Amino acid sequence: MYDELIASPRVLLGPGPSEANARVLKAMTTPMLGYLDTEFVQIMDDTVALLRRVFGTENSLTLPVSGTGTAGMEAALANLIEPGDPVVVGINGYFGGRIADIAARCGAAVTTVEAEWGKHIPAEKIAETVEKVSSPKLVALVHGETSTGILQPLTEAIQIAHENGALFLADCVTTLGGQPVDLDARGIDVAYSCTQKCLACPPGLSPISFSARAVEVIRNRKTPIQSFYLDMTLLENYWHGEKRGYHHTVSMSLIYALREGLRVVLEEGLTDRFERHERNARALLAGAKAIGLQPAAEEGYRAPMLTTLRIPDGIDDATIRGQLIADYGIEIGGGLGIFAGKAWRVGLMGDSSNERNVMLFLNAIEKLLIESGHSAKRGTAVQAASQAYDV
Ligand SMILES: Cc1ncc(COP(=O)(O)O)c(C=O)c1O
Repeated sequence: MYDELIASPRVLLGPGPSEANARVLKAMTTPMLGYLDTEFVQIMDDTVALLRRVFGTENSLTLPVSGTGTAGMEAALANLIEPGDPVVVGINGYFGGRIADIAARCGAAVTTVEAEWGKHIPAEKIAETVEKVSSPKLVALVHGETSTGILQPLTEAIQIAHENGALFLADCVTTLGGQPVDLDARGIDVAYSCTQKCLACPPGLSPISFSARAVEVIRNRKTPIQSFYLDMTLLENYWHGEKRGYHHTVSMSLIYALREGLRVVLEEGLTDRFERHERNARALLAGAKAIGLQPAAEEGYRAPMLTTLRIPDGIDDATIRGQLIADYGIEIGGGLGIFAGKAWRVGLMGDSSNERNVMLFLNAIEKLLIESGHSAKRGTAVQAASQAYDV
């Protein structure tokens, strides 16, 4: 026999998953309904209506795809790209690289526009690249690059894409629910996200939305969509069709969770929620800087839900993260790619973004760093964060 499953309590301050909201977890215990039960169909409709409000869109083709954020990425690319299509992808971190990889697997002729990790991609550089590509079909950027903590400005890039006849894709996996994404106001043609970060739900669904222009592109494809599971025309029929038909058995529990999670988001109010993410990130950084931890992301372009901190010389990454878990139950992320061993990723996402967690983390990291020989005065980090909250 195995023991009953009991997971140790954790304070989730990594790059996701974040803490799931208690109401969301409760909603997940709702009994199963059939995937075409009229009550379940109503729950699906509610979820889509709530999702449109959080995305800031009236896009008809909006729904949560089964699977995590990567499923949304695959769905966006597999539906829009046909073999040989020219696609421009911005890469300034790990996830831009993943978009380029998947786009190439879809047969795209990928041109990348790159910036150093920890820096944003300047609009002029995007313009220069897009203008060199003949008839670009799609320009893709990561809004919140979770490997570096960069919040990429989108407005000019969207204009550049549209002026050159391309659709614009935004990876909003990290930003949805924590920063404005405003699909319609900005003119984003396709955006996808996840449930396990700023929406405070468990992982397993990827909300996605396509503009009317993007839908037109899908409808006018000359080649079939390679993926059956992620074929948006088939999913559209299940989620929005007049005569809904079976496509695959969706996870009722995850859809219950998302519906409740979106209700929680909208009850708080998007503006207040964005402001909360900003406020807690400001305090975290003030505390971190006060003990000599420097941000790895460029000033002016920092995503409030994910702060990257350079690991001081002489400090061992794995030892500190192991102690954070063992002594405090706190999870933070290690660096990805070229930031491995060089930076920590501290997430303050969704419900995890609160003052208690900021203070808990700062107190813990300060103590562990001092014990490892780092020079700082005990109490400095919490005091600096506290002052930042008072401003
Ligand atoms: C910006 C970004 N895009 C895509 C993904 C992939 O999402 P998932 O791990 O949920 O498949 C992540 C995951 O952290 C991400 O941060």
